[in-house]
Amino acid sequence: MIRIEKVKDQYGALIDIPDIESNQSIIINNSNLTLLPALIDPHVHFRTPGHEYKENWLTAAQAAIRGGYTTVFDMPNTLPPTITEAYLHEKKTLINAQLQEIGIPLRYQLFFGADKNHLDEIVKVKHEIIGIKVFMGCSTGNLVIDDDESLEKVFRIAADNNLIVAVHAEDEHLMRERKAEFKDRKEYAVHSEIRNVQVACRAVKKAIALTERFGTKLYILHVSSNEEVRLIDRAKQAGLPVYAETTPHHLFLDTSAYPTLKGKAVVNPPLRLNSDREALFSAIHQGIIDTIGSDHAPHTVAEKEKAYGECPSGMPGIETTLKLLLNAHHENLLSLDEIISLTSKRAREIFNLGQNNDIVLVDLKKETQVSDNELKTKCGWSPYAGRILRGCPVYTILDGHCYEVT
Ligand code: DOR
Ligand code: ZN
Repeated sequence: MIRIEKVKDQYGALIDIPDIESNQSIIINNSNLTLLPALIDPHVHFRTPGHEYKENWLTAAQAAIRGGYTTVFDMPNTLPPTITEAYLHEKKTLINAQLQEIGIPLRYQLFFGADKNHLDEIVKVKHEIIGIKVFMGCSTGNLVIDDDESLEKVFRIAADNNLIVAVHAEDEHLMRERKAEFKDRKEYAVHSEIRNVQVACRAVKKAIALTERFGTKLYILHVSSNEEVRLIDRAKQAGLPVYAETTPHHLFLDTSAYPTLKGKAVVNPPLRLNSDREALFSAIHQGIIDTIGSDHAPHTVAEKEKAYGECPSGMPGIETTLKLLLNAHHENLLSLDEIISLTSKRAREIFNLGQNNDIVLVDLKKETQVSDNELKTKCGWSPYAGRILRGCPVYTILDGHCYEVT
């Protein structure tokens, strides 16, 4: 039995940890620790199968635990993409073998990719998936639904089968037009101009209109701008089943990062202005943003050093998200209740997850510096390297297994 003495709840009151069955015998006697529910990451790209030179579940599971996460939802843009029942089953087998090998029983769910030639596969897997992922614009991989007819079909199938649709909301057609317009510009920062706020808003509007039409539950991934927040606020006020996620990079980085991070700052949707970050924080306070997904999307340093146009989009995040949020708490930008809501409570409600006893014990005062060489993620870099952050996870407890993570 794990015995933990004198930890605090999020309001600072001393409490006993609820009994956690464990084969380990651990006594943690530390009054500096605060208990939070273990984190749920509704948005990761752990790269199995096909891109395991970037990441796999051996390294990613360690990164998740180190970040205070015990549940993740993995995205379908793997190789092959998760768009058929057979590929889904193959992916699960590979993941289970890797988790077994590393000895971390990480809880996971898989999103199923919408592909216009395989829409009939959705019904076959409906009890095995957490939802349907729709790329309304191309990102890493070839998955995209860029015609209205297929998009409508996805929303209809999802509504009929009580599945949630998670959208990468960037409009493919507008994006292509803008890419042509900016084709002579080669600096990384042009990425934020090509995939601008209008590109995101056009897709968000379309997805909300389909939710209104079919009653489909809609989860809008990586909301990055004030304008998207306004559209989502209106949809929620109209009573539509629309939910919104933001990411650590849209909260803690903006376009001013391009000169230093260069290719490492390239991500879809792109980094926005400081004013958008402020809008995202207020959207959290107002309950317009429901969740934070790390959008952990590792690529190698060599890939990220390529010129603009060849450098892939995405950055790792699962190991640093909680630290960034706790540091924001220290700076009075977020309450602990808001952090709990963003990192576990709302995801549990939106995706109808059962309860578990997983917890993370954090030291709210301890300062650590993010450094590339401490990371478990296979890609070995973080866009936050060098930052000194106040607050960090110390123990992550997954299904009775206690992992010391500092
Ligand atoms: O920047 C991104 N990277 N956005 C995505 O939508 C996909 C992700 C990836 O898989 O690399
Ligand atoms: Zn993603």
